[in-house]
Amino acid sequence: MAFICVDVLSFFFLFLSSVYSCSQPSCIFALNNSVSKIPAIYAFGDSYIDSGNNKFIDGATATFNYLPYGIDFQGGRPTGRTTNGRTVVDFIAESAGLPFPPPVKSLSKDQLKSTLTGINYGSSSSGIRRMPPHTAQIFVKVLSLKEQIKLFEQTTKSLKGQFETSESFALHLSNSLFFFHTGTNDLSVYWELDEENRFPNVEKYIRYLSKEFKKKLEKIYGLGARKFVVNNVSPFGCHPVYLHSKPHSTSCLEDKNRRAVLFNDLLSDILTVLEKSLKGTTFILCDLYKLFEDVHALPETYGFRNVVDSCCIDVAGNQTRECAPGRAPCADRTTHAYFDPFHPSESMHKLWFQRCFKDIK
Ligand SMILES: *[C@@H]1O[C@H](CO)[C@@H](O)[C@H](O)[C@H]1NC(C)=O
Ligand SMILES: *[C@@H]1O[C@H](CO)[C@@H](O)[C@H](O)[C@H]1NC(C)=O
Repeated sequence: MAFICVDVLSFFFLFLSSVYSCSQPSCIFALNNSVSKIPAIYAFGDSYIDSGNNKFIDGATATFNYLPYGIDFQGGRPTGRTTNGRTVVDFIAESAGLPFPPPVKSLSKDQLKSTLTGINYGSSSSGIRRMPPHTAQIFVKVLSLKEQIKLFEQTTKSLKGQFETSESFALHLSNSLFFFHTGTNDLSVYWELDEENRFPNVEKYIRYLSKEFKKKLEKIYGLGARKFVVNNVSPFGCHPVYLHSKPHSTSCLEDKNRRAVLFNDLLSDILTVLEKSLKGTTFILCDLYKLFEDVHALPETYGFRNVVDSCCIDVAGNQTRECAPGRAPCADRTTHAYFDPFHPSESMHKLWFQRCFKDIK
């Protein structure tokens, strides 16, 4: 089934006249359409989408800048991506005919001014909130979502001069796609390892997180963003790291997945509220939770043979840590859903892209 891509205005017009409706981002954001093509992709979040920022941060430990990470990326090149090949953001860029958004930390002052096609602010181990002290001892330094947004604010200052008028710059930003994947670290390690936890229960904590996320989306709106694609949190209780380290009678760790579900319910409401309250916006929720759930339920339908094991050999040798440097990973990478014990494989990233941007094969 093919959707016809239309620009935002005619989308709403047609929607109102109920002749035509399509809520897929590829329709609304016209990834590959000469009439209203998106000019840039700005990506925010954690290790699922980080394309190498952490390696430029002094003292960061979660850098993933060695083989086998990147073994299928441009002929075998580690970049800081946490997977074997391209990420969902790379697939969006390819389909939009744009370069892969470079990590913001890799750009010089001049490059920041001349990079008009999008930037990646993602930082592995980051979350919606700042890292709690105990977790910070392990990962040392990351760009929190707040810092990522601060960097984006600086980017807007660098870019502004490249446009003839403030209107044309505003148009650039309002046509650009803003992509978010965050929250998993807040709901997993940040919650579990926070020794100074001030929240009486997980429900209150999750409510706090959702409010913080809402504020940050509003902040980005204030900086010019209008087209948002926001992913919900995947069932991280199914990550190989947990399946191999914690006893469980169900197929995944349900107490962890429950946290994701609670957060996702609030997130969905927040996006509806934001779309109503922030003028001129489109918010697309990409249901990553459902995608992982589907893949775990019927792996073969999605081309997977293994959805429970890491493809690489990790440093501990028991699927609890990151890949060991220089160790050959599994050969059947395309049929593994996970590349390391925490992160999806390139095949899974591709499926993510296809699910979220449905009319693209
Ligand atoms: C965009 O669409 C055109 C025409 O359908 C196609 O030839 C081209 O390969 C597409 N570009 C990308 C990057 O997918
Ligand atoms: C995995 O291996 C590491 C290193 O040998 C060990 O410290 C850890 O307890 C092991 N974890 C499990 C769940 O077996």
